[in-house]
This record gives sequence, structure tokens and C-alpha cells, in this order.
Amino acid sequence: MLRRECLAWLGGSLCLGVMADLPVSLGAQPMPAVPQSPLRLPDVKFVPTPPTVVAAMLRMARLHVGDVLYDLGSGDGRIPIMAARTYGIAAVGIDIDERRIAEANTQAQTAGVTEQVEFLLGDLFTADIREATVVTLYLLDVLNERLRPTLLRDLLPGTRIISHAFRMGDWEPEQTTRIDGRMLYRWTVPTPEAHEP
Ligand SMILES: C[S@@+](CC[C@H](N)C(=O)[O-])C[C@H]1O[C@@H](n2cnc3c(N)ncnc32)[C@H](O)[C@@H]1O
Repeated sequence: MLRRECLAWLGGSLCLGVMADLPVSLGAQPMPAVPQSPLRLPDVKFVPTPPTVVAAMLRMARLHVGDVLYDLGSGDGRIPIMAARTYGIAAVGIDIDERRIAEANTQAQTAGVTEQVEFLLGDLFTADIREATVVTLYLLDVLNERLRPTLLRDLLPGTRIISHAFRMGDWEPEQTTRIDGRMLYRWTVPTPEAHEP
């Protein structure tokens, strides 16, 4: 169901085997048993979205059966985990910090959703996100703007994008909501003709 694959990492020089039946490959080195510090610094540090705000983001996404949610920069995994637990959908989290991936996997086990969620170590700017039908973001204005061409190129028309706190340059959101003092923004990926110059 979920696409399992190697994520490009540091220009493709390193590939983390995440297929269930593939050995993990870290060059000549075995995967460390204990999470280490990140291989490259995150573009933004981990600040969790409060649970009430996560719930509002998921309502705003209008989730339905068959959706696949990707949280780009997934931290402790709270958005994919709540999406899987509350709506029964498949969800993927991508984070560049292996400590966050380890936390997210632990939380998914506690929540009993390991069959539905997957956490991938990698860079959100190079990850394959094409199967997403919903994308959630809690990054920065500048990162959203940098990500925008990838979202428009790789996501299917109709895919919903929900951002906590940050806008996406001059791409006007179709909906904004305020919850507990936080702004949420929603966009829907248009057909290619609608956004080609
Ligand atoms: C503000 S936190 C948001 C966490 C979670 N999405 C939430 O809303 O609770 C941003 C996360 O993005 C991750 N991150 C930063 N730069 C990244 C990158 N280039 N690729 C993947 N993850 C990244 C950080 O490690 C951090 O966990």
C-alpha cells in the first residue's frame, strides 16, 4: 500500500534501505542501534504542534477513506499518528533527524497504528511524495516557498496542503482558520494548466 523506497540523502551518496526485505545500507557502516545526532542539521528545529491544532489541521484536510497523508518534517509523528488513529487512513512522516524518527516509531507502537503509519529518515526536499493526497507542514515561510515548486510538480491535482502558521509566498490559501491563537492555511493542488506560466 505505502510506497517503501530508498530516500535520496546528501546528494544520493547515501541510501537508507527502508524496504521491509532489504538490508539497511549505510555505506560500509551498520545502522546504529542507538539514535545519534542528525547527519545534517534540520532546516528548522523540532517544535511540536499542540494536539488541538493537529486535530484542526486534520479537520481542515477533509480526510476520507483512501487518503494518504504525508507530514513533511514529522517530528515525533503526532500528525500521522492522529490521522491514522482518528480517520483510519495511511500516513507517512519524513524527518531528517533520526532521533525524531525513533520517537515517532515508539509513539506509533504505543498508539497501535504501526500497520498504517511509516516514518522515513530523509530530507523533505528530496523525498518522493508523489503518493500523498494530503500534505501537512509546520516549517517556515521560506521553507514552504522553497517547497512549493516540488509540491506543484509532484502532487496530484486535488491534493490538499495544510500548513500550520506559515504561508506559501504569493500562493493565496483557499481557506484560513485560527485555532488557539495559531493560523492554519489550506491550498489544493490545481491541474498543471492552472499553474503553468
Ligand atoms: C516545527 S517541527 C514540526 C513537527 C511536526 N510536523 C509537528 O507539527 O508537530 C519541524 C520538523 O522538521 C524536521 N526537519 C527540518 N528540516 C528538515 C528537512 N530538510 N527534511 C526533513 N525534516 C526536516 C525537524 O527535524 C523537525 O522535527
